[in-house]
Amino acid sequence: MSRYDNMTYRRCGRSGIKLSALSLGLWHNFGEEDDQNRARELVWGAFDRGITHFDLANNYGPPPGSAEITFGRIMKESLHSHRHEILVSTKAGHPMWDGPYGDWGSRKHLITSLDQSLKRMNLEYVDIFYSHRYDPDTPLEETMGALDYAVRSGRALYAGLSKYPAQVTSQALEILKRLGTPCLVFQTRYNMMERELEGMLDHILDVAGVGLTIFSPLAQGMLTDRYLKGIPEDSRAARNHFLKRENLSDEKLLRIGRLNEVARRRGQSLASLALTWVLGHPGVGSAIIGASRIAQLEDNLTALGTSPLSDEEQGEIKKILGL
Ligand SMILES: NC(=O)c1ccc[n+]([C@@H]2O[C@H](COP(=O)([O-])OP(=O)(O)OC[C@H]3O[C@@H](n4cnc5c(N)ncnc54)[C@H](OP(=O)(O)O)[C@@H]3O)[C@@H](O)[C@H]2O)c1
Repeated sequence: MSRYDNMTYRRCGRSGIKLSALSLGLWHNFGEEDDQNRARELVWGAFDRGITHFDLANNYGPPPGSAEITFGRIMKESLHSHRHEILVSTKAGHPMWDGPYGDWGSRKHLITSLDQSLKRMNLEYVDIFYSHRYDPDTPLEETMGALDYAVRSGRALYAGLSKYPAQVTSQALEILKRLGTPCLVFQTRYNMMERELEGMLDHILDVAGVGLTIFSPLAQGMLTDRYLKGIPEDSRAARNHFLKRENLSDEKLLRIGRLNEVARRRGQSLASLALTWVLGHPGVGSAIIGASRIAQLEDNLTALGTSPLSDEEQGEIKKILGL
């Protein structure tokens, strides 16, 4: 009954749609090999705490596609009657199947992949369909035309771009606007340690009124207390694939420890501080978090009730990170 009481909803750019300030991403922990009960608990737990936006991609797993299958099963079993309360996004562009149409930005890849995603998730439509990455070998007109078609054909309600370089983003946004399917949202990495968004890209999106969804706001778990006492066996860094052990150098861990002290002083966890920091950036519609257990989700939600960072705190964080 209290599902919507404690979540903040933020307008996505200058569109009509609002996003939950935190979204749940299914990149890790929702594949075929992961604990299916825990996956269900996380999706339900997120929704029951007011998270309305679930972020997927064709290739999430492992194996690729299996996170969509997990999500589709949960939707079918228990959340179908809430479909109208939930925003589902998926993407195409990274390697998905063999042969010349299995990745990148052709119309063939995007539309075929979206049809497969809908099937895997047991959905009639997704809310947001992203081009997952810029394809330098396919004309922007073709990729944007495919996004426009995805929307016009009813497969998606909105179009989005992910990880496009600033230099081509303006042109892509222009084409989408001209086609009559303005870009709703741009998805990019942004956190205290990785700030490439700031500058040209930020400016382009702001002027165009495009919303921002942020991925890896916790730097895949590095901006939490997860690694302060070594690498836990059940952590992402222990799998040593997307987050490499070598990323956790002694020097970085020292800086993370000092950030942890700043967080403690403010009466929050480091994960919560990292999210306060991301959500304090103008234009951010939602921070897409990953989680492997409900306790992490609950910890991350505490960011919503905290005071914004002062200029002194911002300065201290920069200094700690050597920026
Ligand atoms: N567009 C793109 O190209 C792109 C790229 C990457 C990600 N994404 C999207 O963004 C989503 C989030 O990315 P991400 O998983 O890298 O995000 P993240 O929030 O930076 O990292 C999530 C990981 O941090 C750890 N964690 C989370 N909360 C914690 C807490 N309170 N205390 C301690 N540890 C905590 C967990 O690690 P353990 O699993 O080790 O417990 C969790 O899996 C993805 O699921 C995906 O939807 C998109």
